[in-house]
Amino acid sequence: MKEFTTNIWSVDKESDSLTGHPQIIQASLWIKNNEVIAFPTETVYGLGGNAESDEAIEKIFAAKGRPSDNPLIVHISSLNQLEGLAAHIPKRAQMLMDAFWPGPLTLVLPKGDNVSKRVTAGLSTVGIRMPDHPVALELISESGLPLAAPSANISGRPSPTTAQHVYEDLKGRIAGILDGGPTGVGVESTVVDCTSEKLTILRPGGVTKEQLEEVAGEIIMDPGLVSPDTSVPKSPGMKYTHYAPNAPLYLVDGTPAFIQQLVDKEKAKGKKTGVLSCDEHTHLYQADTVLPCGSRDALESVAHHLYDALRAFNESEAEIIFSEVFPKKGVGTAIMNRLEKSAGGKIIKE
Ligand code: TXA
Ligand code: MG
Repeated sequence: MKEFTTNIWSVDKESDSLTGHPQIIQASLWIKNNEVIAFPTETVYGLGGNAESDEAIEKIFAAKGRPSDNPLIVHISSLNQLEGLAAHIPKRAQMLMDAFWPGPLTLVLPKGDNVSKRVTAGLSTVGIRMPDHPVALELISESGLPLAAPSANISGRPSPTTAQHVYEDLKGRIAGILDGGPTGVGVESTVVDCTSEKLTILRPGGVTKEQLEEVAGEIIMDPGLVSPDTSVPKSPGMKYTHYAPNAPLYLVDGTPAFIQQLVDKEKAKGKKTGVLSCDEHTHLYQADTVLPCGSRDALESVAHHLYDALRAFNESEAEIIFSEVFPKKGVGTAIMNRLEKSAGGKIIKE
């Protein structure tokens, strides 16, 4: 793989107009040359490349070390770009687009002729979204190309919510990072399959099931999400261990007192311990590292801080991590989906 001096291009996302922004123009030149660069979205940072170029797509997979059977999401900045990307738009997909784009929602649609097999990993469908971030939208429109973009982390690690996270993972492997500050939502987009008879959530994310149902009626969860052990998830990415800190993480469905007992047992064995706790409970734990990840009363704040906290354990001495659980409602469903992945199924019930 080619080696790069990875540029960090700062862009103030609050600026009145980003049109003609020199750093975005620079990044778009790399894109037009079929190189890949990282950029902010409202969910997490993406690693973008020209969705029409197999060469660019190969570079995305190589930079991340991503398994090639896992398809990429195509990012657009205007609805005109849908032509050629999607073969047709089912009615309920149109309703969801009207309601949630730009925003943290990826729609799986029948694939059009302009989409390379490398993007969809051979599937007959393609995931498309319009991100709600001024830097992402300007980069796509300046490049004049749809951008295939997975999260900009090394495969298996927590997704990046700051340019610094991207740099930790991908420095030397990509030409540059557009730094638009920390992302907002903090967990990835919701992926909804619009090609099957019933609308199906393949990955819970920034738009909640409740919000989707208000617009488009009944939506089901992919059976592979509900009981991950028994069925094969339809979204290929959901089968991999993901979002994992270096030390093993256990999800604990129990009280802080119970979690403290688990910590004490490990301490007695001479292990350095870590706890991932909501803001309200941090003072209840005596572990070597206790990291807060937002307020239990505002699950959006947990989504926003989750990946940063998971990454921060790698800077600590923790050899074993216990994490609290969160209610599976609203964005809590996405939070728990990511925590279950980072625990690789290791759950302890009180
Ligand atoms: O918020 C996000 O969606 C971020 C930002 C950068 O846009 N992107 C992201 O991409 O999370 P990635 O590659 O890390 O995750 C894409 C997920 C994977 O689980 C993948 O399997 C699924 O979407 N996916 C993509 N295309 C699909 C398709 N045609 N059918 C089913 N699942 C698909
Ligand atoms: Mg990812």
